[in-house]
Amino acid sequence: MDQWGKISERFHEWTAPLRPSPEDVEMFRRSLNPNARTLLLGVTPELLSLARVAVDNNPKMIEVHHSHAVLGDWADLPFGPEFDAVIGDGSLNVFQGRVDHFFQQVKKTLKNRGRLTLRVFSSPEVKEDLNSVLEGREGMGFHAFKWRVAQALATPYVRVQDLYRVIKPVWDHPTLEVYKDSDLIYYFPKVSELPKWDHIQFATSYELAERCPVITWNL
Ligand SMILES: C[S@@+](CC[C@H](N)C(=O)[O-])C[C@H]1O[C@@H](n2cnc3c(N)ncnc32)[C@H](O)[C@@H]1O
Repeated sequence: MDQWGKISERFHEWTAPLRPSPEDVEMFRRSLNPNARTLLLGVTPELLSLARVAVDNNPKMIEVHHSHAVLGDWADLPFGPEFDAVIGDGSLNVFQGRVDHFFQQVKKTLKNRGRLTLRVFSSPEVKEDLNSVLEGREGMGFHAFKWRVAQALATPYVRVQDLYRVIKPVWDHPTLEVYKDSDLIYYFPKVSELPKWDHIQFATSYELAERCPVITWNL
């Protein structure tokens, strides 16, 4: 089931915290040296102008964003050590493989002393109780609510289908349908579970920003 292809058809409905805010984009920009040759993992439109090349494995996503992206998979990146920096928005969360494999692939594309900067959707250090989250949706945006449910379910991995199954009876939001038959697994690590990072920054301008840090690793 092509979950990303379906999302590309209703992309404008994917709002904060799922999209990087202008504040996040500025953090990404500041993490890059001027003239850095940068690779973007995915075709995140807000970040495209910061990167020389983007790499995405979904042709529909590339088409919708009219981007200068290369078709390729992060699990087997089609590049040698030619970039000063790699950036991505939520890329580690949606990667269907081991964290060390993701980092190894990024490292392969970086020149000496290269840098990885990612916005990471992270779980709180103390897990929230699922029922409390489900009962406390009042006043929340749908996507922030969905991420809180996902993080309450995460072990730190959660099947997207389970997310659909748990949320549907409580909040039958129209965007939920793209998750119905998804075979993807999302990863919501605590910040303390991530490989040791060098710099972390948090936006403040949107709901749940405190769980969406922009993190830099000097690799
Ligand atoms: C960057 S991610 C996460 C969502 C994010 N907040 C965004 O910008 O849309 C979404 C993009 O990554 C792409 N993608 C997911 N897994 C991939 C992989 N293993 N290799 C290449 N592209 C991938 C999807 O096709 C989609 O365009």
